[in-house]
Amino acid sequence: MERMTVHPLTQRLQLFPVTAQVVGSGEASRLEIAGCNLELLAEAYGTPLYIYDQATLDASLQEYHQALEGYPGASGLTYAGKAFLCLAIAQWAAGHDLTVDCTGAGEIFIAVTAGVPRRSILVHGVNKSPEDLQAAITHAGTMVGDNLAELQRLVALSYTSSLPELWLRLRPGLAVETHAHTQTGQEDSKFGLGLDELEQAVTLCLQHGLPLTGIHFHQGSHFHNVAPLAPAITTTLDHLVTIRKATGWYPAALCTGGGWGLPYHEDDLPHPAIGDYVRFIAHSLEQGCLGRGLPLPLLQLEPGRSLVARAGVALYRVGAVKHTAHRRWLLLDGGMVDNPRPALYGARYSALPVLQPDRLISSNAWLGGPYCESGDILIHDLPMAEVQPSELVAIPVSGAYQLSMGSNYNGARRPAVLWLQDGEARLIQRRETLADLVDRDFPL
Ligand code: LLP
Repeated sequence: MERMTVHPLTQRLQLFPVTAQVVGSGEASRLEIAGCNLELLAEAYGTPLYIYDQATLDASLQEYHQALEGYPGASGLTYAGKAFLCLAIAQWAAGHDLTVDCTGAGEIFIAVTAGVPRRSILVHGVNKSPEDLQAAITHAGTMVGDNLAELQRLVALSYTSSLPELWLRLRPGLAVETHAHTQTGQEDSKFGLGLDELEQAVTLCLQHGLPLTGIHFHQGSHFHNVAPLAPAITTTLDHLVTIRKATGWYPAALCTGGGWGLPYHEDDLPHPAIGDYVRFIAHSLEQGCLGRGLPLPLLQLEPGRSLVARAGVALYRVGAVKHTAHRRWLLLDGGMVDNPRPALYGARYSALPVLQPDRLISSNAWLGGPYCESGDILIHDLPMAEVQPSELVAIPVSGAYQLSMGSNYNGARRPAVLWLQDGEARLIQRRETLADLVDRDFPL
């Protein structure tokens, strides 16, 4: 007997952008986002098709801003561009006064091309190449140092260039609860400086006049339990007390990274709000500073996923419906190439048919992609209505770490991306063409 928990449509819609609604009734009912007809968009731009809903981006940002008001010191927000970066998203971020976190020269180039001002470009990287360092020096307002070798390189470069403000990335030695591939703060992680290296790093910066202004840590991505942030803040502050005594230095800014998760599947609901997470950090930092007689640093948060994931929806066309021994397969025209997350992390997604999304759920379905890999399955075991070939299916929470981790496997071309706002859809990234596939090649 098949296990099937059916969630009502109202609950399934909570995963979609805030503007999602079902319009029309009966056979004419359909899922609409930002007042746009998804079927018409899919016909005009083809599938797989990604859409971003501006109202949802604005709403998640608003939640962050509101909750940060509870912090008595200054605060700021950085958008972690690795979640998804293109000219339009970078412009949206800069237009809302967000700093844009760029990993390396490539993302710096996108941000600069989008017109993000220098003061709003922050550069991360666990092993920055000479090109990354040069791009950071040329274009960034802030750079986060990862290790002692990199600091030595910066010392050498500081003789010939003026450096951006420098923060140090710490490894607080504490893991958050998430997939092992997305934990970063634990003791054995490849990221950042160990607590035992912090004083040496600060001293090095001070001795050589590097513009050191901040401390950063990021414990991992897609966690839902805030608890491990408290000991990370406490440990960091304890070390800062020691460093302040030894060197007189204290950071103007403290960034607790990003990583707040969100629901991808009905089973993840209800999910604690962004506000709960932000208030927890603000409170822990305020109390921690008060208790140690430390000044309140500027509190910087660095979210990626929780800002953009829910704004994104992936639209796929069903090509074939197949029944195997124990499974009903809906074979889609996209898969692990535009969304490697299920294959990489076992990520669980949900889906709705775009037309008549409220039709009766019949049994569980497996939504597979067209690529030559048995692991190319976007969704396992999802209660789903009967869906016919050529129907359009929408997968919510597709705005983060999908396109940015996409590939050209099997000669797939990256999908087109649309920006939806008030009933209007604008193309912000065109679909790759066949010619793009050989654009970098030279014949023998
Ligand atoms: N800051 C730093 C230094 C980071 O490395 C990251 C993410 C963030 C902020 C933003 O984290 P977020 O708020 O988006 O969770 N590909 C994985 C996620 C990798 C996250 C990498 N770093 C996934 O698809 O789940």
